[in-house]
Amino acid sequence: MTARYRIIPYSISEVKPGMEIGRMVLTQDDKVILSEGTILTESMIEGLRFWEIHSVFIKELSPSAEPALDFSIPETPLQKKFYAEYDKTVSNLKAYFDKMRFFKDVPLAMLRELANSSVEPLINANGVLNHIHMVRRQDDYTFHHSVNVAIISGVLGKWLGYTGTKLRDLILAGLLHDIGKTQIPLDILNKPGKLTEDEMEVMRLHTTRGYQLIRDVPGIPRGVVYGVFQHHERFDGSGYPLGVQGDKIHEYAKIIAVADIYDAMTSDRVYHRKVSPFTVVEMLVEEMFNKLDPEIGSVFLNNVRDYFVGNIVELSDGRQAEVIYLGQFMASRPIIVTENNEYIDLERRKSLSITKIVKA
Ligand SMILES: [Fe+2]
Repeated sequence: MTARYRIIPYSISEVKPGMEIGRMVLTQDDKVILSEGTILTESMIEGLRFWEIHSVFIKELSPSAEPALDFSIPETPLQKKFYAEYDKTVSNLKAYFDKMRFFKDVPLAMLRELANSSVEPLINANGVLNHIHMVRRQDDYTFHHSVNVAIISGVLGKWLGYTGTKLRDLILAGLLHDIGKTQIPLDILNKPGKLTEDEMEVMRLHTTRGYQLIRDVPGIPRGVVYGVFQHHERFDGSGYPLGVQGDKIHEYAKIIAVADIYDAMTSDRVYHRKVSPFTVVEMLVEEMFNKLDPEIGSVFLNNVRDYFVGNIVELSDGRQAEVIYLGQFMASRPIIVTENNEYIDLERRKSLSITKIVKA
């Protein structure tokens, strides 16, 4: 017979070292302090008092044959609301994109509505970038990716001071950036393995195809058209389709490029493993020096760093730890505190590294 567990709320005065956390513990502003499954130590209990957490959920063996509680609901109400709205946005976008594949007709009003009523509220959600990272996405990559890029572009736009129509247009451009993929044959788009050089060529056509699809749509903002057309152009001229550089690239396209790279790197993809955002930040720093607009890139990096503080990560020795401080660069080597309360500066302890995020 398998053991049955239950999850019981305990007040902080009652918890003891050795008890197991049954549901993750969050601060007021939604940062994770302890993840589910953590075994409490004296100093962690101290920490909980410090954070003014008054009660926690403890997982314990059920003494009787009471029905086991469902452990699959660690989401906070805030996260639940976010995921529900997010999933709805993804399936709406999928429906519009599927239609465009066959009818080549862009439902601008509906897409605008999606950007304004569904995506814009998401970018204002607390901890939005963490939520995106925790979203499970097995299939429908293009649609998840489009919604993510719209959200990340919007967040970055806000950090750059965008408001009102300008912000909404940027979000719309993010949502539509890969619209040209509706014109790429499905066997190439969904090919499970690596693409051949010829297939890559076809895939690269998606920026031009997207441009052709939307340029004559009545009422479409020019910035949106350029955002779509130029999102693979790079600051140093190494991008496509035209290889233009610097100021010749529209600002929306430069913002979308940052969002696109960040999301692609942090996603599960067919051929590369999901990379921790810590590593992605480091890779972005490298890209930033030549391929991305340095100003936009540094605004992104400076702000995104705040998101990582409070993340629970797994270390290369298997232990879990919380990120407590990130330096200016080398984001993959922050200062952490482990579950057994050891403070480690990963910048100095090169033998250890972060392998993944357990809870964001
Ligand atoms: Fe693209």
